[in-house]
Amino acid sequence: MSLNQSKALVNAKNDSYTPRTMTGLSQLQQQIEQIERDLEARWPQLTDSASLEAFRVEFLGRKGRIPLLFKKMGSVDAELRGQAGQLINALKVRVTEDFETRIAEQQAAARRQQLSTDAVDLSLPGTRRSRGHLHPMTIVQREIEAIFMKMGFDVATGPEIETEYYNFEALNIPADHPARGDWDTFYIDEKRLLRPHTSPVQVRVMETSEPPIRIICPGRCYRRDTQDATHSPVFHQVELLWIEEGLSLAHLKYVLELFTEEFFGEGYEMLFSGDFFPFTEPSVQVHIKAPGAENWMEIMGAGMVDPAVLTGVGYDAEKYTGFAFGLGIERMAMLRYGIDDIRHFLINDLRFIKQFS
Ligand code: PHE
Repeated sequence: MSLNQSKALVNAKNDSYTPRTMTGLSQLQQQIEQIERDLEARWPQLTDSASLEAFRVEFLGRKGRIPLLFKKMGSVDAELRGQAGQLINALKVRVTEDFETRIAEQQAAARRQQLSTDAVDLSLPGTRRSRGHLHPMTIVQREIEAIFMKMGFDVATGPEIETEYYNFEALNIPADHPARGDWDTFYIDEKRLLRPHTSPVQVRVMETSEPPIRIICPGRCYRRDTQDATHSPVFHQVELLWIEEGLSLAHLKYVLELFTEEFFGEGYEMLFSGDFFPFTEPSVQVHIKAPGAENWMEIMGAGMVDPAVLTGVGYDAEKYTGFAFGLGIERMAMLRYGIDDIRHFLINDLRFIKQFS
């Protein structure tokens, strides 16, 4: 036995697939053919990563059938060894390439499977979330605030549950005053009521600050009004108050002209008619008329702040004068948008509200 032959026998012990006594190129070729037949049978079974790994270990692993063939080259005649090496190598390259292709296919199939189980149908229309928008009252209130803030007024607020004092006494409306009947409406207890106007905020601001005072106070008000197209027991006002030295009714008129032009547009006419409020003297009713329109529209009550109100908060009424007005925000919105019924603002009918998006 040659040295090579005995080596081949030693190696053959480790290889259960090869006959014990293999010599020469033809046996090697037979082995290669055997492996190729086995491969043909195995390829279709490689459907998951476990079978692929088992395949790799069996054929291509360090002790796999193909690497073991190289070890058997020693049993081939020296002059044929090169040829044997090429044959084994070609087999190895072919199987390795096929195997890698198979791995790639298996991974792609696994991904497809994953995608189909986790599938999101991107062509389905999404759940539409409608975007909200401001209520017409809020739109108009903010617009009014913006106009006056541009003129230098601050926005102040006060409580909706108000005391009799701020509602009446401090505004020069004593308990026995006939004007009180219009305003003493929704009482919470003996001393407190839902405010019927925003004028009490004037007093609260004056009590805590010194002139010059330039404020507007928007807010909700309550009155014992029966609901109809122009009356609502709940409504909104914007109060304005300007206290400084040397103010007159002319300043009020100027402020109102600026406001009317900004809010309604150019070409409006304005008319003051006499009115009465206990907290202003003189008091006026302000009317405007659209360009080309027939009728005057009343937009607010206003007047020069009564000296009694000023002295009531400790101001020197000889030194300071000022004016105030109270306008209804619903009124402004109705005029602006041509809304014919104040109840629309409270009913919350989306067909109405959506017109203002
Ligand atoms: N507070 C009055 C009302 O509600 C309006 C007003 C405010 C009048 C300020 C004059 C000055 O009717």
